[in-house]
Amino acid sequence: MILSRSIGEAKIFAPFSALDAILIPLGGWAALARASQLINVDPVLAEMRIIKDASEIEILQRAIDLTAAAYIEALKAARPGRTELDLKAVFQYMYSRREASSSFTQIASGPNSVNIHFESTGRILSAGDLIVFDLGAWVDGYTSDISRTVPVSGRFSRAQAELYNVVLAAQKEGIRLMTAGNGIQKTQTVVEDALLSGLKKLGLVTDPASPWQRRFYIQHGFSHGIGLDIHDVWGWFSRQMRAGLVFKPGMVLTMEPGLYFPAGRLDKVPAEMKSMISEAEWTAFAGKVGPIYKKFENMGCRIEDDILVTETGNRVMTAGAPKEIAEIETIMKGGSPFLQIK
Ligand code: GLY
Ligand code: MN
Ligand code: MN
Repeated sequence: MILSRSIGEAKIFAPFSALDAILIPLGGWAALARASQLINVDPVLAEMRIIKDASEIEILQRAIDLTAAAYIEALKAARPGRTELDLKAVFQYMYSRREASSSFTQIASGPNSVNIHFESTGRILSAGDLIVFDLGAWVDGYTSDISRTVPVSGRFSRAQAELYNVVLAAQKEGIRLMTAGNGIQKTQTVVEDALLSGLKKLGLVTDPASPWQRRFYIQHGFSHGIGLDIHDVWGWFSRQMRAGLVFKPGMVLTMEPGLYFPAGRLDKVPAEMKSMISEAEWTAFAGKVGPIYKKFENMGCRIEDDILVTETGNRVMTAGAPKEIAEIETIMKGGSPFLQIK
């Protein structure tokens, strides 16, 4: 019914990629639509999907709350000597008992945490590691998307806390800007600026305005829609983002800045930056920041919340998944029934 209101009496043509081979020689679906008054339904569906109604928000909240509850159990079960897969099993248990399933269970510890996307492996957790969790649960067709970063030891070391606080401050700044009428691209830039200024304070950048230093540390975008998919209607979303997408009430989007410090990344000019900087400039930069970079090697840190844009501001739907250092450390002191299992 909403569809027929949106598009009047025109017939609907929903292109399938399987039909591309037939349609492209004929001039693509657009040529066909001109000839026959058919229209492409995909953009209409994409816009419908990006704005959530009350029932969709309620389902998403249940998916998020289940993910948050499972994350808290996993925090209690994280100890040196356990494995990433031991923690993955906690999520499987927590989801299965609610007839939910995983859309994404990344438990990336130590050197694995520098990967932007990862799964979970048999790697044994060690006391000096950070773990980057990236978690989603499907509930009634909708999925959450939450990232959290925690220390295996249960206490953030000085360097871990320094990194964490830079990412957390930038993430909070990003959330503050996720209100109706604000632009997503400007929000990305403000969050990048916050990360760069935090990195400058730590001695990891020499010039926060330098495009190549930004390129070195900023490795992904910080926001996407969630819903029926974890990167919901991504093709439409990314085009809109480039065209200047603004936040609207009813959108549910992530805010997920991250910083990653792979070992040896300073050793030579990264391939994607070759056109931006000379070898000599790179060597000078690496000489300056290298000793500090060493302290952060093999650490990754991402913090990701799901934000509902409202008429009057926004709601952090993932508030049930603790992200303050003191909260994380308190929870990690708790015991877990999963630790009884050898
Ligand atoms: N789980 C993928 C992402 O956070 O975008
Ligand atoms: Mn995400
Ligand atoms: Mn995620």
